[in-house]
Amino acid sequence: MALKDEKLAKSLTAESVELIPYLSYLLQDLWELGSSPKKMIRMIKEYIDAPEKLNVLDLACGKGAVSVNVAKVVGCSVKGIDILPDFIAYARGKAKEHNVKDLCEFAVGDIRSEITEEKDYDLVIFGAVGDVLGTPEATIEVLKKTITPEGYILIDDAYGKESKKTECYTKAQWMDVLKNFGVRLIEEKVVDPDELETLNREQQRYIVDRANELKIKHPEKAHLFDSYIKSQQEECDQLENEITGVTLLLKVDN
Ligand SMILES: C[S@@+](CC[C@H](N)C(=O)[O-])C[C@H]1O[C@@H](n2cnc3c(N)ncnc32)[C@H](O)[C@@H]1O
Repeated sequence: MALKDEKLAKSLTAESVELIPYLSYLLQDLWELGSSPKKMIRMIKEYIDAPEKLNVLDLACGKGAVSVNVAKVVGCSVKGIDILPDFIAYARGKAKEHNVKDLCEFAVGDIRSEITEEKDYDLVIFGAVGDVLGTPEATIEVLKKTITPEGYILIDDAYGKESKKTECYTKAQWMDVLKNFGVRLIEEKVVDPDELETLNREQQRYIVDRANELKIKHPEKAHLFDSYIKSQQEECDQLENEITGVTLLLKVDN
């Protein structure tokens, strides 16, 4: 089923579902797939009391970069769920390598259905996953149901710039959503443009190299890998020019 999922493909910047079987190969050199574990850990430690006691849910955890680093640095327990079995296998390997196997649980699953089973967490993380859970309204609504009344939400998303016509909600629209759903903004951290440019260039180099390898192995699908390089570059350009990446720490207003 995952092999035909357009939202899954889009969450990894693939224009076509035909690319899904190759994503693991294309992204093999990267561990972090969007969110910055360092930034999230800093926010958790700064704003949440006794963070080592937290029970954390990391939805669409990718290869586990956030889950494993949070467990390792903060010392809390984390459950990560992702739809791609290769990514979950990689995450489990990393948990072992970093000696946090006992703090981390990883499961393969589609978060759109699994989320209804996940409840009473102290913190839910939803990092760099786009619209897999729907609009910002739908996303906040379902994320809220996974946490206790005292719980926190950490989201990595983006603000659309007022001057540009993008699908992304502007900051003002995001703030309206938070208000309407009774959620308070504790901190927002926008992406530093220089850091972003450096990271984009580095990641793009790895992806282009892997895409070129695939073009040699599967010349009949060269157009597919070229389209991946192109959509990755377009996403980098969009992130640098049209939208502003942002990490939001939120708390339900009681
Ligand atoms: C850009 S990556 C972000 C991964 C991770 N949060 C990080 O920041 O490193 C998006 C992730 O969403 C996952 N994904 C997309 N649709 C999903 C779904 N319906 N259920 C579970 N995971 C999904 C993809 O497999 C991918 O790992």
